[in-house]
Amino acid sequence: MKKLSLLLLLQGLLFSNFSVSADRALVERGRYIFDAAGCGACHAGAKPLAGGRPIDTPFGTFYAPNITPDKKFGIGAWSEEDFIRALRYGKSPKNQNYFPSFPYTSYTGMTRRDMLDLYAYLMKQPAYPIKNRPHDLQGIFKSRAMVSQWKIANFRKGPFKPDRSKSKGWNRGAYLANVLGHCGECHTPRGVLGGMIQSRFMAGDRKGPGGIPVPNITPDKNTGIGDWKLHDLYNFFGRGVKPDGSFVTGPMAEVFGGSSKHLTMDDKMAMATYLRSLPPIRGD
Ligand code: HEC
Ligand code: HEC
Repeated sequence: MKKLSLLLLLQGLLFSNFSVSADRALVERGRYIFDAAGCGACHAGAKPLAGGRPIDTPFGTFYAPNITPDKKFGIGAWSEEDFIRALRYGKSPKNQNYFPSFPYTSYTGMTRRDMLDLYAYLMKQPAYPIKNRPHDLQGIFKSRAMVSQWKIANFRKGPFKPDRSKSKGWNRGAYLANVLGHCGECHTPRGVLGGMIQSRFMAGDRKGPGGIPVPNITPDKNTGIGDWKLHDLYNFFGRGVKPDGSFVTGPMAEVFGGSSKHLTMDDKMAMATYLRSLPPIRGD
């Protein structure tokens, strides 16, 4: 009897330790996804992740909401499935559409596992009871119901499907660039209703977020980055330095500081490999 309870005690200790470290590993993986996906950039504000940062668009100004685990003002009362619905379908727990200023158009491609790890990480962050600021949108663009129409033309639900004819590294790069890094959300020009023009994928946008010009990152020799070597891209992601020795600026400096520099060596290489494989498109 004594032996058995000792055994049970030992087992209990072992398993609780195991679950603590498994929990920690999950949160660490979640932090990696969080960085790679650049969630912190828009959801900044007076306090980390508590929102309030303005995002200027031709449709008006959006204010990123509070995504801290605060139960009242943040997403602390959300279930895992609520969180997955937001990223995969662009829908709130009350089944309302989110505006695509939240780039779920890219995040929809995330694997379920990545979404769950990200959720675990977010739930471990400090909660701040800061109320969301309402968006300041123009006329018809206020309507969340209208986003349903927009989605029919511009939203393709994930998860990401690997291209079996390509290498594992290429597919990882495509996942990092198009799903987590949502590079195309800035580097692809948009049509009048704000959908990405797929025939000009990554070919740059004269008026990117906040009216800032975004360069062509296809391998076009004259208007893109056709003369960047694999290691130039690798250096750019890791150190924020371009082949001409200048430093990255503006919104891309945030992508570098918040995201790309945190990627592992393999992931930086994978993303560089993927970008170099894009069809070159002449910029306008
Ligand atoms: C380009 C800016 C931007 C990035 C990057 C971004 N978000 Fe958001 N997010 C927004 C905006 C704007 C909204 C509000 C959309 C709306 O009101 O329809 C939002 C809404 C949300 C919501 C819904 C909150 C609520 O209260 O209903 C969640 C959850 C969320 N984002 C999580 C994330 C996560 C996780 C990431 C990273 C994977 C991320 N966001 C990256 C801009 C962004
Ligand atoms: C928030 C908008 C935004 C996002 C998201 C974004 N970029 Fe950029 N990117 C820019 C802007 C603006 C510049 C120009 C700034 C500069 O060159 O210093 C730029 C510059 C670059 C350059 C340098 C090109 C040149 O000709 O100098 C590369 C390479 C690049 N981005 C790759 C990426 C990749 C890869 C991703 C996804 C992981 C990404 N960007 C995501 C806005 C963005």
